[in-house]
Amino acid sequence: MCGIVGYAGGDSAAKIIYDGLLKLEYRGYDSAGIAVMEQGKITVAKRVGRVQKLAPSVQILEGNIGIGHTRWATHGKPSDENAHPHTSGKITVVHNGIIENYAELKSELSAEGRIFLSETDSEVIAALIDKFYDGDLLKAVIDCARMLKGSYALLAMCEGEERIVAAKYRSPVILGLGGNGNFVVSDEPALAGNCPELCVLEDGDFAVITPLSVAVYDSMKNPVIRAVYPVAAKEQSIVLRGYPHYMIKELWESPSAVSRTLSEFAKVQYGVEKLLKDAKKIILTGCGTAYHAALVGKRYFCEICKKSAEAEYAGELRYDMPVIGCGTVLVAVTQSGETADTVEAARLYKSLNAKVIAVTNCPHSAITRISDAVVPVAAGPEICVAATKSYSAQIAALLSMALAVGRSPECEVLKRELLSAPSTILKTLEEIDIYALAEMCARSRGVYFMGRGIDYALALEASLKLKEVSYIAGSGYPASELKHGALALIDGGTLSVFLINDEALASKSANAVEQTISRGGMVSVITSLREVGEQFSGRAEVITLPSSNRYLSPFAAAAAVQFLAYRTAVTLGRNPDKPRNLAKSVTVE
Ligand code: F6R
Repeated sequence: MCGIVGYAGGDSAAKIIYDGLLKLEYRGYDSAGIAVMEQGKITVAKRVGRVQKLAPSVQILEGNIGIGHTRWATHGKPSDENAHPHTSGKITVVHNGIIENYAELKSELSAEGRIFLSETDSEVIAALIDKFYDGDLLKAVIDCARMLKGSYALLAMCEGEERIVAAKYRSPVILGLGGNGNFVVSDEPALAGNCPELCVLEDGDFAVITPLSVAVYDSMKNPVIRAVYPVAAKEQSIVLRGYPHYMIKELWESPSAVSRTLSEFAKVQYGVEKLLKDAKKIILTGCGTAYHAALVGKRYFCEICKKSAEAEYAGELRYDMPVIGCGTVLVAVTQSGETADTVEAARLYKSLNAKVIAVTNCPHSAITRISDAVVPVAAGPEICVAATKSYSAQIAALLSMALAVGRSPECEVLKRELLSAPSTILKTLEEIDIYALAEMCARSRGVYFMGRGIDYALALEASLKLKEVSYIAGSGYPASELKHGALALIDGGTLSVFLINDEALASKSANAVEQTISRGGMVSVITSLREVGEQFSGRAEVITLPSSNRYLSPFAAAAAVQFLAYRTAVTLGRNPDKPRNLAKSVTVE
């Protein structure tokens, strides 16, 4: 959350930072700003709204060193004043994270006569660095960091010093090396096309970035060596390439995301299999869509591996008081690998001697440094705020994990069938006719998704996706719960969408469909079971999916409900890539 780009090199810093911020806009789009240094003097341009609003300023900001920020508002509403960078005296900063003791620090600094122009916690950082500054920016940033409680990825510049100083604690900071200059960013896609190598800072690291050098230090100003990796994000993978939105582009990339994830699993299978085989209890966790993937994973571990498995929201899990016996394995599912709740839940379980397996799309992310094993989700960069291809790839990874441990003869069949998941997704996207249902959603006062078993997990995800990109209220329900309350909501203005893909539970779900139809509700049935489709043909909007084993049914069902959410958003004229109030990578609590 909040994108950060810093550059020191031979080109126009404003232009390079602007391009980088555009690539990171998925991390927040409430306001944006750039500060550039020329001959020791810093000039700032910042505006409420999207990064594009800075375009006119980019033409006139001159200088080869600078920092920029695209904001997701936490402290203080989106406004010009609250936009980063923030300046105090000689110091200008951008910050991602939350300073928990900012109110206390602000009142101390105010009592000393410092004036604050914004409502943000970040402005306190600029004031503190300025207070400590005595001719050495690195020392002042280190002194400031000692005073901060909370999380920060921060970049600071000081008038008269031709360098950027970065500090990192519980928010990602990545250095980009080997291009026409040096970079410091919050997220790898900002480096795509700019430099070939990167280096990931650890918590407690500080870095000094100049046009000719990059150096990392600890809090005692001792040099620190950090590993250098190739930049994996490619420029062509983060541009729209003719698609109107990233959401639809990434949805069409789901087959290749799943296929790559399946091949990558072979490389880690041995280590993961060993951890899972010894597990007495498996806890799966994640937030939002990743949690919904964890719910599907729980079914896989229980039913295919015959292991005791549970799934819990990471934000709940991290504040539980878990009783962890030996043999507990935490499976942390996270696209970004930086979601604060998921990372903290993993830290908690690790501290209690559980083994941690990360299922993530970002190989250099925080979660990978805590985990005993990493299962790659090889979805490639996901720019749309709403997860699509990463969800399908997470399911592929979780099913591969379960099948690596499962011993029943059915597992061998499933392993073979799993290889056809990419083509099932492709077939779904090519053949599905979702337009009429999207129109129904767009006209509805509320949309309720229902299912049983794995379909219930899918119903939760379908509901989240639709809400997120179209702003239509509703929820996901177990179909079994309908008559325990939710049926009261059903009338001609509400739409109920039933997911029915599990043969064993189909007749039960069909009863719920009948009950909803008889109460006068609009109904749709999304099913891979031919007889179910026939049962409701003419009485409900039936969407037919390619037939598949129930463990594999999430691939087609996910593609269908993601496509439905996309079409509904477009029908309503919403921008599915940047839903209001949201940002990708929730690195704050
Ligand atoms: C919804 C969505 C979010 C994320 C959640 C966790 O479409 O994308 O719900 O799934 O914020 O993010 P990661 O997977 O990065 O931990």
